[in-house]
Amino acid sequence: MSPSLERLLRQHLRTFAPYLPGTSAEDVARRYGIACPVKLSQNENPLGTSPRAIAALRELSSLNAYAEDEHVALRARLARAYALPPDCVVLGHGSNELVQLVFTAFVDPGDGVVIARPTFSLFRKDAEIAQARIDAVPLDDAGVHDLDAMLRAIGPRTKVVFVCDPNNPTGTRVRRERLHAFARALPPDVLLVIDQAYREYMDDGGCDGVDILRERPATLVLRTVSKIYGLAAVRFGYGYSSPEIVSYVDRVRLPFNVSRPAAEAALAALDDDAFVARSRASNAAGKRQLLDAFARLGLHAYESAANFIAVGVPTTATEMYDALLARGVIVRSGDGLGMPGRLRVTIGTHDENSAFVAALEEALATLRPATVRVAG
Ligand SMILES: Cc1ncc(COP(=O)(O)O)c(C=O)c1O
Repeated sequence: MSPSLERLLRQHLRTFAPYLPGTSAEDVARRYGIACPVKLSQNENPLGTSPRAIAALRELSSLNAYAEDEHVALRARLARAYALPPDCVVLGHGSNELVQLVFTAFVDPGDGVVIARPTFSLFRKDAEIAQARIDAVPLDDAGVHDLDAMLRAIGPRTKVVFVCDPNNPTGTRVRRERLHAFARALPPDVLLVIDQAYREYMDDGGCDGVDILRERPATLVLRTVSKIYGLAAVRFGYGYSSPEIVSYVDRVRLPFNVSRPAAEAALAALDDDAFVARSRASNAAGKRQLLDAFARLGLHAYESAANFIAVGVPTTATEMYDALLARGVIVRSGDGLGMPGRLRVTIGTHDENSAFVAALEEALATLRPATVRVAG
């Protein structure tokens, strides 16, 4: 590091690692000369984008004016879904922005944050930027949040606890009654953030964080249009909380954090029940296809409630990741996700899943088993 940068940089960021978004299709094309790699690495919707959202985007004829900052119609639409008042809804540039705003609004250096391990990497990243003290509580043997241990980790300086349901990178869900009991046992001045980016993929809807919010005002439920609605590129996510919490998260955001294209696309997509149903059915079929293949190959998979599966491999995760990459299939290595010995694979279309399984079988036949063994 140059002396001038050393002086400039905030001290605690000197060893700060950059966020690794995973290998892009363009990288694989460049490195291996494979024109159209199969990308199963970012938990995107393999069916594309809600057609209603695309139609709404096509209708935009000018973008010269700033969007209306309040997004009244969009907030009303989101509030109506739960018969909540619109001031219980907060909008973000992706739900990721709302995680960051939680830290800006509520967490001072040295305050405590409780998360699971492994869980969505941005919770730790934002906590580190905020100089929070992080308590990362290991998942149980089934890869599920250990809510009893998380409760024990709550101390006098704990400000926020994150529950990711379904959890990224394991795909596992918490049981409804367990999460309700956990929420009831939390001190009332600890903010419970329930990140439900994949909720729409759950068979029975799983635990609805908004039910917890109704009982416990210091709760923030995060949702997004990036996953089942196929709108990751427009960057829009939203949250439900008490009007007081919403008002503080909202006042520390940038003005115009939600673009007009994002708002129009989201408003249309949220009513696209046909696309959601098709996406859910495709995901359920793809999940069966992959789980059958994993069972045939003797690979252990965590039970997934999402659009991705964490599967154990008999090599190191990164060896297998590299071997798949060379065969034109991009997944995520669990080594970078706190899940050694496993891959995180997004459930794709039938053909994408078949290509992944074929590459996996080939790689398994050529790679030697590693010393890393998978738990569970
Ligand atoms: C747990 C979790 N929350 C949120 C997101 C993304 O949210 P957004 O695109 O709305 O910022 C992801 C995406 O990978 C995720 O895994």
